[in-house]
Amino acid sequence: MNEEQRLASQQVNQPKTKNEPEKDYSKYFEKVFTAPSLKDAKKRGKEEIKYHKDFDIAEEFAGMGVGRTFYIRTYGCQMNEHDTEVMAGIFMQLGYTATDIIEEADIVLLNTCAIRENAENKVFGELGFLLKYKRKNPEMLIGVCGCMSQEESVVNKILKTYPHVDMVFGTHNIHRLPNILKEAYMSKEMVIEVWSKEGDVIENLPKSRNGSIKAWVNIMYGCDKFCTYCIVPYTRGKERSRRPEEIIQEVRELAAAGYKEIMLLGQNVNAYGKDFEDINYRLGDLMDELRKIDIPRIRFTTSHPRDFDDQLIEVLAKGGNLVEHIHLPVQSGSNEVLKIMARKYTREHFLGLVDKIKAAIPGVTLTTDIIVGYPNETEEQFEETLSLYREVGFEMAFTYIYSPREGTPAAKMVDNVPEDVKKERLHRLNAVVQEYSRKALADLEGEIVEVLVEGTSKRREDVLAGYTRKNRLVNFSAPKELIGQLVKVKVVEATSYSLRGEFIEVVKNEKVDAK
Ligand code: 5AD
Ligand code: SF4
Repeated sequence: MNEEQRLASQQVNQPKTKNEPEKDYSKYFEKVFTAPSLKDAKKRGKEEIKYHKDFDIAEEFAGMGVGRTFYIRTYGCQMNEHDTEVMAGIFMQLGYTATDIIEEADIVLLNTCAIRENAENKVFGELGFLLKYKRKNPEMLIGVCGCMSQEESVVNKILKTYPHVDMVFGTHNIHRLPNILKEAYMSKEMVIEVWSKEGDVIENLPKSRNGSIKAWVNIMYGCDKFCTYCIVPYTRGKERSRRPEEIIQEVRELAAAGYKEIMLLGQNVNAYGKDFEDINYRLGDLMDELRKIDIPRIRFTTSHPRDFDDQLIEVLAKGGNLVEHIHLPVQSGSNEVLKIMARKYTREHFLGLVDKIKAAIPGVTLTTDIIVGYPNETEEQFEETLSLYREVGFEMAFTYIYSPREGTPAAKMVDNVPEDVKKERLHRLNAVVQEYSRKALADLEGEIVEVLVEGTSKRREDVLAGYTRKNRLVNFSAPKELIGQLVKVKVVEATSYSLRGEFIEVVKNEKVDAK
């Protein structure tokens, strides 16, 4: 057991010190709460998924938020960002107003991420901090939702260490937000409502979208892959695909509302449609329909190499609004490590898939996710990851040191890789990642690229910023009226992570330009 695991297990078991008062949390759960269980979350039942369109704000909740404000802080992935949009939509239907000033909010929600220990630690730090605000404003309600709420160890820790939290709810019942809020207003106790088992798919939840240029659209929920390191299949439940007609309708409406780019979301989008019993319809079919919609760009995330099929590649090769950028997490370049991770593909399979994609989509950009320092990863195995990175020529990668997650099979593995070796490997990998990313950007100097202008640069108000189809950040000077438009920009300089360019013109035919 390494230091990180040791600390993690201490948190889980929460051994009592002598001075601590006895508290039987299980009894507490039984009476007042619905508590999470990772063991139950692991189960994959055969029951049919039901689709509902019956979300409505009940009479008893109407106007509950009038004169009150809310603030949601989001951690983690785009799925969480999108859940925040849904919760903001529900808050607004209840009459609440959004605020940017956390101290002044009547309700503060932390929408949390459980993927690595440091993501969780940030949330615990913030909870400590929120106590100060709550002391100043005792009426403030504090809530924890998202993936961390699905873990019993986290709920126990909140009960024990952060009693100023008023409500905890999970990823499967955000539509119950009005009920949970009402309960929290009425109850003196912490309200905990976490479902271990995923519920049905609810189609008509309100959304308060963040911005009017790019939009997220869920295509499926959950993950059945159970990679041995990953907590997601436990926190997000079994795979459930949204019906194609619902997705197509949503994208059409977004296009009509003037959105320019759609990001389709799912934990493992290549499994889309596997759960349909009445139709044979997969991600390739969906993309083939979506490509006919009059919107300039459509992307998806995140892919699993095992389920990435030929039909999808064929459809993506048609281009148009389907961008030539694929995020394809590989995790490791070593067959032994991939096996222990239960990724269910080999290095050779992955390289074969990359060859197919490159042959079908000339100039495609590939990016990836990599974990280093998996339990017992050897130097040779790590070097296979480096060599795979070079062989594929990824343009960018999110890189992580393995973080044990309580309840996953990998957390039980004995690990003989010291922490400093893991850090050093991450460092070496990042040097390669940077080398490739710099080169990819430098290759664009002098080229003309298509940019979707999203706003002004974070650093300078007079500089506009946007992304290319391949998701490269471009900064350039031009009038603010161009925000929200597709423009052509000549790249004059590549820096480490972005491009600097000169504005040329607005793109006239938005659907054709494929740069
Ligand atoms: N430790 C480190 N990285 C992880 N990821 C998922 N689980 C873990 C973990 N336990 C990484 C994977 C995944 C990305 C979203 O997060 O690389 O693709
Ligand atoms: Fe986690 Fe992705 Fe593996 Fe699913 S496919 S278990 S979300 S890493």
